[in-house]
Amino acid sequence: MLDLNGIKVKNRIWLAAGAGGYGEGWPHQKPFIKLGLIDFSAFGAIITRTLTPESRQGNYIDPFEFENATLVSHLCRIFSEERKRVLRKVLGGWINNVGWWNVGINYWIEKIYPWLHDVAIIPNIGGFTIYHYVDSIRKLNHLDIVGIEINISCPNIEHPLSKDPAELMKLFTFCRESSDYPFIVKLGIDSDYVQIARLAEYCGFNAVSAINAIPALGGGYSGSAIKPIALKVVADLKKAVKIPVIGGGGIASLKDCQEFFEVGADAVALGSGFLLKPWEPTRIAKKYEKVKDQK
Ligand SMILES: Cc1cc2nc3c(=O)[nH]c(=O)nc-3n(C[C@H](O)[C@H](O)[C@H](O)COP(=O)(O)O)c2cc1C
Repeated sequence: MLDLNGIKVKNRIWLAAGAGGYGEGWPHQKPFIKLGLIDFSAFGAIITRTLTPESRQGNYIDPFEFENATLVSHLCRIFSEERKRVLRKVLGGWINNVGWWNVGINYWIEKIYPWLHDVAIIPNIGGFTIYHYVDSIRKLNHLDIVGIEINISCPNIEHPLSKDPAELMKLFTFCRESSDYPFIVKLGIDSDYVQIARLAEYCGFNAVSAINAIPALGGGYSGSAIKPIALKVVADLKKAVKIPVIGGGGIASLKDCQEFFEVGADAVALGSGFLLKPWEPTRIAKKYEKVKDQK
């Protein structure tokens, strides 16, 4: 077991928020899970989609979210215009505009979390006020989770707190006081990420993660094109703080993971790598098991 400043995980290959749904996989991943081609237990940690205190439709109106999805509903999702507006393939990657569409923290705790077995879960929490974050964190307090990721960098959301250092300081302090779990703050490039990382470290956060999708026309840009930018951010953060840095952005192979480790990432989080080849992240995690720990 690795101990990354209190974050106890079995390896350094993680899934970024959104990549594995709420920890149980997106509907289109389910057949691959059944076939054993996706194995969430192979990853050091699975970070969930962002959870907010109340359920949110975000930018996606999905009538099947709270129902037992059927084959017909899956086909509707795959071919609907709505879906294309939320997730689009573009040169070098993807534009997503999910906008915190999620079932809400209570639903996740009651209906999804109890079914998650053999996976190391890190819920990712979002909110518009400090109270939103603290409220969700308190609800998570009795669960068996690895840590909590605080999202202040979604490119599809106007974050009222993230631009003001005094508000961030309050947010981090209240989060820290609300729970003994390890905390990670997720950073994006449209903010002073070095300053925010230093603030988080000062407030007792255990790690920082970077990068979130990059703000672009129509949503957040992710995938292989953003890797060089993400590598620079990880290198900058590594120089700025002593707490672990979880790196990610455009990872599609074990070689990509190793590039992040070389610039100082303590663990990596894979995101869009799941979209075209759902089996690839599991293959990467398993290959890594064989060559580990070269760090
Ligand atoms: C479809 C999709 C959904 C995502 N959902 C979330 C989310 O709910 N919360 C979050 O913090 N990041 C979310 N992200 C961002 C990823 O976690 C990751 O930070 C970003 O996509 C960069 O990594 P990548 O290039 O490997 O995808 C999402 C990304 C995609 C493509």
